[in-house]
Amino acid sequence: NSNINPNLSLLRKWRNSANTVFSRRISLEAKKADQDGFVPFLEMMRCRRSEASKSVLVQVQSAQSYKELHSYCSTFGTVNNIFHYTAGGEQLHFLIVEFSKESEVQQLLTYSSHVNDFEGIPVQTNFLWFKASGRKSKLKQSKSIKLDIENGNCIPKEEDIREALRSCNNISEQISTLHNITTLNEVATRLRFLTARQVEMCLLGLFPNAIAYPFGSSVNGFGKMGCDLDLVLRLAGDKISGESRLVFHSKALNGYDRSISQRHMEVMGDLLQFFLPGCTQIRKILQARVPIIKYYQQLTDVECDLSMSNMSGVCMSDLLYMFGSIDERVRPLVFTIRKWAKEVGLTNSSPGRWITNFSMTLLVLAFLQQPDNCPPILPTFNTLIKNAGSKDKFVTEDGINCTFLRDIEKLKYKTTNTDNLESLLKQFCEFYSSFDFSTKAVCLNEAVSITKPEHSPLYIVNPLERGLNVSKNVSLEELEKFKYELRNATWILESQEKKTSNWGILEMFESKRKVYPSNSVIPSKQGRLMEVSKLFDDTEQTQESVIIKNENVEKEIQ
Ligand code: GTP
Ligand code: MG
Repeated sequence: NSNINPNLSLLRKWRNSANTVFSRRISLEAKKADQDGFVPFLEMMRCRRSEASKSVLVQVQSAQSYKELHSYCSTFGTVNNIFHYTAGGEQLHFLIVEFSKESEVQQLLTYSSHVNDFEGIPVQTNFLWFKASGRKSKLKQSKSIKLDIENGNCIPKEEDIREALRSCNNISEQISTLHNITTLNEVATRLRFLTARQVEMCLLGLFPNAIAYPFGSSVNGFGKMGCDLDLVLRLAGDKISGESRLVFHSKALNGYDRSISQRHMEVMGDLLQFFLPGCTQIRKILQARVPIIKYYQQLTDVECDLSMSNMSGVCMSDLLYMFGSIDERVRPLVFTIRKWAKEVGLTNSSPGRWITNFSMTLLVLAFLQQPDNCPPILPTFNTLIKNAGSKDKFVTEDGINCTFLRDIEKLKYKTTNTDNLESLLKQFCEFYSSFDFSTKAVCLNEAVSITKPEHSPLYIVNPLERGLNVSKNVSLEELEKFKYELRNATWILESQEKKTSNWGILEMFESKRKVYPSNSVIPSKQGRLMEVSKLFDDTEQTQESVIIKNENVEKEIQ
């Protein structure tokens, strides 16, 4: 599409290389991920997890310590990459050191020491610090080593984002620029996999096959810098019971006992709290339908949500990753709509009766499947199911069928729709401002809106578990607010004439602060006239103190 920023791939390359202070050899995995070709979700996960198991995170005095650290680490093996970032208000410096083999990391860890017993618990994880040698380093900087400490793991400043958007030439460019600037970068992605690896490592003795799978926006292609890390911990990993005649003795699990699984989570929470370096602010939310432990990993600066069931979250991430990869307009559009929703107060970081980022993403995907977009940009979920091959078969242990095509190259659907991002953004707003939410449900399986099976104000069918409504938590008041903001956004996008300083999507983000006259008439693309509804005049629903975040995940709110 000609309206996609032509510098997109260049920019992405720049973002990905900016924090590499040392790069001797890009690993096979990274090369693969760097290629333009599509890397299926499970392959991407395998590569990233393997990268993390070959890496350690080391706190150092300054970015310049990389020369000394590199020289030290090279005695244990071949160092492939070193990345730099800061944490703790840019006061603390860290380097991610990636070796070429996991065994080299093992050697380095075996040789590493503990602080004495009175000062710290002697745990061994992938998080270390590098003692100053006290001697001046004589190491010379090789010409091929580039030092760039600009980006690291820093969340782009709001003012910088706005400045970049102001200097764009048109709205389509603004949309792709926002995506470029805010999308999760290489360092932030590695930090999330290292955070998951730390949890696995702390369990190695008892559960050598344990896997902590990242899911959600950290891996589904819709993550922005600073997004949380959703983790699901599987103690048996993906090991299937084998043929061996020798079987480990184990504690009996007498059926599914909720209180036992809550106790297990409690133990996990205590492990994180008392033994794992960097894990702070542990909150155990065990009464929820899916119990979770929230914690903040301060060494990687990542907020984490850890659960021990719910593999369907990983499948859902696979599905969203797939949809986001089918067409290059999908992710920029989702980023803009999620940012707009946040700015105008439709979404909120704490759970409640508002639309979640996840639901908002599904709304955008469902819109892109609509036959009214001539032709639709995305295929239906049923098309992905029909095209699934034998390798795509997967049913979770609780019976959720997650069989769908995972390899885009095998998808027999290619859109000829060439609408630019600006046009798609307008169409999104128009589509949902005239959507009949009172009787219809949004459904990604069929690309047709189906009749609502029950009376939740907003009904979005969970594509993997069709009997469930992903947006059951949304109140009528919030739905009305959504419709109101959609009309405001349409009005702004249609009525732009000359560029004020905050134009295009910037003006859309600010619309909350502007008051549009109630009952004013706004133009619409189809020539219809729409009336701006009065603000939230038909609020009926009240909210309980404990809300359902979704069908599977309940979260407490204060
Ligand atoms: P962020 O706001 O960037 O964290 O987006 P996110 O997609 O990671 O959302 P969140 O952390 O709230 O949820 C993590 C993942 O859990 C989502 O990506 C979904 O895969 C899954 N999830 C969240 N809400 C629901 C829901 O209502 N139903 C189902 N089935 N899965 C959900
Ligand atoms: Mg998340």
